[in-house]
Amino acid sequence: MSETPQPADLIVFGGTGDLSMRKLLPALYHSDRDGRLAPETRVIAMSRGGLDDADFRGKVDAEVRSSVPVDDLDTWQRFLGRLHHVTVDIGGQDPTGWARLAGMLGGHEQRERVFYLASPPMTFGPFCREAHRAGLVTPASRVVLEKPLGRDLSSALRINDEVGAIFDERQIYRIDHYLGKETVQNLLVLRFANAFLEPIWNSLWIDHVQITVAETVGTPGRRGYYDHAGALRDMVQNHLLQLLCLVAMEPPSRNDRESIRDEKVKVLQSLRPITGGEVDRFTVRGQYTAGESGGVQVPGYLDEPDNTAPTEGSRRVETFAAIRAEVKNWRWAGVPFYLRTGKRMPYRHSEIVVQFKDVPHSIFPGNTPNRLVLRLQPSEGIQLNIMAKEPGAGEVALKPVPLSLSFAETFTGRVPEAYERLLMDVLTGNPTLFMRRDEVEAAWRWIDPILAEWESQGTPPEPYPAGSAGPATAHELVGRSGRVWHEEGLA
Ligand code: BG6
Repeated sequence: MSETPQPADLIVFGGTGDLSMRKLLPALYHSDRDGRLAPETRVIAMSRGGLDDADFRGKVDAEVRSSVPVDDLDTWQRFLGRLHHVTVDIGGQDPTGWARLAGMLGGHEQRERVFYLASPPMTFGPFCREAHRAGLVTPASRVVLEKPLGRDLSSALRINDEVGAIFDERQIYRIDHYLGKETVQNLLVLRFANAFLEPIWNSLWIDHVQITVAETVGTPGRRGYYDHAGALRDMVQNHLLQLLCLVAMEPPSRNDRESIRDEKVKVLQSLRPITGGEVDRFTVRGQYTAGESGGVQVPGYLDEPDNTAPTEGSRRVETFAAIRAEVKNWRWAGVPFYLRTGKRMPYRHSEIVVQFKDVPHSIFPGNTPNRLVLRLQPSEGIQLNIMAKEPGAGEVALKPVPLSLSFAETFTGRVPEAYERLLMDVLTGNPTLFMRRDEVEAAWRWIDPILAEWESQGTPPEPYPAGSAGPATAHELVGRSGRVWHEEGLA
């Protein structure tokens, strides 16, 4: 992998959409500002929007500039100058857009060529076919697929086949932006660059693991997507399962493109299936109703402002999901992995909590077990709770005290956004932090029976008021074995 930025053409299908405006373009601007884009690199947005280059640049200037630090107008102008727009309607009759794109890319085959599909999964196959037909797919080009890849295993298999008919697996980058987050990568470093954790990273020492991704945001304006996704497809199938893999995987033999992914897929294949009657025991689904979140009154899911009205499907979609998972292997036998994610939770926090077992024989009253918390959001950090003696004479009094690492305090300087890191990895051809075909399919294989059971029940999810910590049964899910969700986060 070269350190000198190579000229690239990044073609973003869905280039005027929400993801592009909120994440991709800001990430690219930051990379440009840090000198990580070659002078010739271009970003070509494709959409049905009928914009020309000037319109698109005006749109980005109006919508993106306020969300990024523009300390020097020349840099911003240089960034805008990289942007182009091509109008293309996939499946439409008008080939002029493809021809224009072919004209722009022609003669630049030696550049890195990346197609970024920031569009719904059903467009992935048709896009690849049309790009191929237009002669745009070179042996060195890459394609990035946004999650969720399909709606279930069978659609994922079909999409993987369709994309795989045009691109080789080594050219396909399935993105899960959680893998680009600093703490997530730090989890690998923490586990595999420090000797002290490995001997205790197993069922002999660990009582259970909790993975929580709680958001305060709701889904205003996202009904079209969210009604068909729900929390299980939107968050658990990808983000939460990827985090679980990194916690549970065996040490890889190398830090290369396949070794880490080989180990992750083994974890997914070791997940104990949750099927039929077990689904109710080991999973919880909820949907938020009106309530107070972040000090303001917000509507319930069904009343979120949107340009489409709620349907029967909206009533059944979950905005909260919790699961008790188990990894059936030697290392993790008997250790529950509790997964939880929800919209309109009381506060935004994403964390992995590794709860250790109690000491085998306590000689002090008030001893509590150690806990390791890896926080992804809002401020990235790692905290280990250990027991210490409270200063003072007389009887020994214990207190859990945190050993904390805050990334913001320890590593000064800007912490790059996940998309920045991942986009650079695509441009330099490093797929380590992207999901391989077998990983995505193994994840769906585990999710499918849960989805099937929820769908066959046809009942609405349990309501929970916005601003609460989810439905009561989510507490029972952990409470049944005398455990509780870790709520306080880091200090
Ligand atoms: C996306 C989901 O993948 O991740 C969104 O589609 C969710 O529903 C988002 O809000 C959360 O990402 P982050 O980085 O803000 O935790």
